[in-house]
Amino acid sequence: MIKASSLSSGTRTQRVFAWVSIIWLTFAVSAFGKAVNLETIPKVVAQCGENVTLPCDATSSHLSDIRFFSWVGRNKTLCKYDGQPDPEVLCESAAETHPKLTLTLIRVMPIHQGSYLCKLHSKVGLENLASVVTVQDCLGSSGSFINESHAKCWFNGVYPVGKVHWFQGVAELTESASTQEDKDQYGQYTITSTLNVQKENLDQPYNCSLWIPRAKKYLSSRQVAMVTVRSLSGRGVKLQWICMMAEIIMVKLVM
Ligand SMILES: *[C@@H]1O[C@H](CO)[C@@H](O)[C@H](O)[C@H]1NC(C)=O
Ligand SMILES: *[C@@H]1O[C@H](CO)[C@@H](O)[C@H](O)[C@H]1NC(C)=O
Ligand SMILES: *[C@@H]1O[C@H](CO)[C@@H](O)[C@H](O)[C@H]1NC(C)=O
Ligand SMILES: *[C@@H]1O[C@H](CO)[C@@H](O)[C@H](O)[C@H]1NC(C)=O
Repeated sequence: MIKASSLSSGTRTQRVFAWVSIIWLTFAVSAFGKAVNLETIPKVVAQCGENVTLPCDATSSHLSDIRFFSWVGRNKTLCKYDGQPDPEVLCESAAETHPKLTLTLIRVMPIHQGSYLCKLHSKVGLENLASVVTVQDCLGSSGSFINESHAKCWFNGVYPVGKVHWFQGVAELTESASTQEDKDQYGQYTITSTLNVQKENLDQPYNCSLWIPRAKKYLSSRQVAMVTVRSLSGRGVKLQWICMMAEIIMVKLVM
């Protein structure tokens, strides 16, 4: 009897303790969760040269709670609530229903890729939330050149890095081409490829295509042909010949 009674009172104490703990935990979670709740876009994919806007909403937080609200990236504070932004970015502070800090990355480039952190230091504590920016499908300009011994193609402002594949009809000629890649200060590539060609193969156009291994796709392609150049210059010569004849006739008439 005595044993049973002490056991049940022990169980009761444990149960009360458990309830108190649950209530405490609920209170702590709701108080903490309420004061520092941030929202942003977790992942942004852009093309080179675009402006990327990263909002950070401090929902269910009050302006008076805020000690520090900022966007941090590239190892520096880019943007501060009601503060002077870094000259490379645009920054907007707003407080309509809740405090909001919007960071705009201008003309985003491969070197700007990475994690950007929205940081809010409030009365309750410090909260961080990341937004990861990546760039892809970048291509600036392209060009080509051909003469009787070489065909050449180049692609500027490329990211991620690519390779040039050469075709003539169904034949793939990539093996006999030499390709060079250069990276600029913004992390974009210029890819130049040169193919040795034979005079007797020039009547069919060449095709040079920019292959992006990481994306597993062709980003651009160009036709390189001498055929049109030859017929144009041929007509040019004929026209010159007609002009000369006319001049000779006129000279004879004057004389
Ligand atoms: C990006 O922002 C800059 C600076 O505000 C502006 O001059 C430019 O036109 C914008 N570019 C685009 C594509 O919206
Ligand atoms: C940031 O700092 C780390 C460590 O000091 C360095 O390795 C990295 O290159 C820096 N990144 C930028 C974007 O400056
Ligand atoms: C064709 O162009 C290449 C590269 O510009 C040059 O080195 C070569 O001499 C040219 N060949 C002919 C036959 O004009
Ligand atoms: C060149 O070849 C690529 C790959 O086979 C093809 O996708 C593209 O349409 C071709 N371009 C031209 C202009 O013929």
